[in-house]
Amino acid sequence: MIKYEIIREEDAYLVELLCNELMGYQKSKTRITPERFDSMSFQTRFLSSLEKADQNFIMVAKANDKVVGYVYCNLSSKEVYDSDFATFFDMNSVEDQVGCLSQFFIREEYRGIGIGTRLFNEGMEWLNKLNVKDLFIFVSDGNDDALNFYKRKGFNESHKILDGFITVLRNI
Ligand SMILES: CC(C)(COP(=O)(O)OP(=O)(O)OC[C@H]1O[C@@H](n2cnc3c(N)ncnc32)[C@H](O)[C@@H]1OP(=O)(O)O)[C@@H](O)C(=O)NCCC(=O)NCCS
Repeated sequence: MIKYEIIREEDAYLVELLCNELMGYQKSKTRITPERFDSMSFQTRFLSSLEKADQNFIMVAKANDKVVGYVYCNLSSKEVYDSDFATFFDMNSVEDQVGCLSQFFIREEYRGIGIGTRLFNEGMEWLNKLNVKDLFIFVSDGNDDALNFYKRKGFNESHKILDGFITVLRNI
């Protein structure tokens, strides 16, 4: 049986291994500058997002008390998405704060049995309760499974950035 739990920010380390696996997974999929992922890790991606965001939501899925998947969503000021790394979207097209499904990973043996859908829905429910208008998901090149998953859930392709390295999906 799978159990779902919201975890506190202090307990984010519970998803450290899965987060690092996610970076490796995305690196294995992309044909565009895979080396970009070499500097991406739990420290540089997860903890830094957690700090920059105004509000965070982390939910894990557990099987036999072991974490087998997680979703991480946040609410941040839009300036967070205008950095040296990239400008993720037209700053004039959004309100001051934006919501994001930032990270999402299910261990391979547990995919395809509905855990992702449940975590996705929980993340969206949290975002929707914040009454934030602009929602984003960023998918790296080559991860067509995830791209199609989000499209089936109602997100739309908006544009690509960094020469196609990232596809930006929006709720409009
Ligand atoms: C994308 C991901 C989170 C989806 O989670 P999941 O638990 O497999 O999702 P679900 O079981 O709820 O559903 C997956 C969909 O694919 C279908 N599916 C069937 N077999 C599947 C399989 N072996 N693997 C994945 N999906 C499968 C399901 O029918 C479902 O279709 P639907 O959306 O039309 O209902 C998961 O595949 C994953 O962790 N992928 C690797 C990491 C990743 O890409 N993360 C996103 C980064 S942006």
